[in-house]
Amino acid sequence: MLQGKVVVITGSGQGIGKHAAKTFAQQKAKVVIADFNLDLAKKTAAEISEVTESLAIHTDVRSEDSVKKMIDEVIRRFGQIDVMMNNAAIVPHFAWNIPRWPLIADMPVEFWDRVIHTNLYGTFFGTKHALPHMMKRKSGHIINLYGGGGVRPGGAATYMVTKDGIRTFTRYVAEEVRDANICVITFSPRVPIATETAPEEALRRLPGPEILGPGFVLCAQLSMAQSGKCFAYENGKLVDELPREG
Ligand SMILES: NC(=O)c1ccc[n+]([C@@H]2O[C@H](COP(=O)([O-])OP(=O)(O)OC[C@H]3O[C@@H](n4cnc5c(N)ncnc54)[C@H](O)[C@@H]3O)[C@@H](O)[C@H]2O)c1
Repeated sequence: MLQGKVVVITGSGQGIGKHAAKTFAQQKAKVVIADFNLDLAKKTAAEISEVTESLAIHTDVRSEDSVKKMIDEVIRRFGQIDVMMNNAAIVPHFAWNIPRWPLIADMPVEFWDRVIHTNLYGTFFGTKHALPHMMKRKSGHIINLYGGGGVRPGGAATYMVTKDGIRTFTRYVAEEVRDANICVITFSPRVPIATETAPEEALRRLPGPEILGPGFVLCAQLSMAQSGKCFAYENGKLVDELPREG
């Protein structure tokens, strides 16, 4: 069903984005690896090109210009965008037992800005510039990433402001483009996941992105009745996910 569709995934040089890219590739979708780490992006795209068409594009989601140029390049190469997955983020990865982020009283504004710009502006820019191409064809799916970070001990405030913001953004944009037949949803990995840059100990203790199975492929096939909602992957299917409270 996704064969030949064009899927753009930000931050897919590694981690959950890379896993998603592989699952879309298995469906023979064309996959764009948009990451600010071009070496990683190229490596991932090369792995995927054994299965399907893929393209690595240097993209910094903090920059509107960079995101717009990436989308323009995708349109030049593939002519359309069927799925936009706004995945790139600065992630605290506290479950990896690495240092927690500063509490708000100690937070340098540069730290705050970097997280807000990557996670929240990145999702805004990716959505903004993919939408006109989807609206033209009256079709498309946008998948935004939710995430969790407990209230105690402190340190997750900035991250959760972006993730709860992304969830709210998703609900509102979903209504703006409902008549254009574009499905906009949030997906929550729900559990802490160890990606390539996790310490050895965390890699042994925590699941990898494979635990999400074909979750993103299922998201890309949701009907308009599901637009605006948040989902998680459980036992081979998508389930409704409630907002995180603490
Ligand atoms: N890992 C988890 O436990 C977990 C849990 C819940 C939600 N999530 C969410 O899943 C998504 C992916 O997380 P992950 O754990 O795979 O992350 P990760 O830290 O393993 O990888 C992040 C990727 O994003 C890229 N990136 C970072 N800043 C960028 C920028 N400005 N422009 C373009 N690319 C950029 C990095 O190069 C890297 O490839 C995030 O949105 C995160 O919030 C992760």
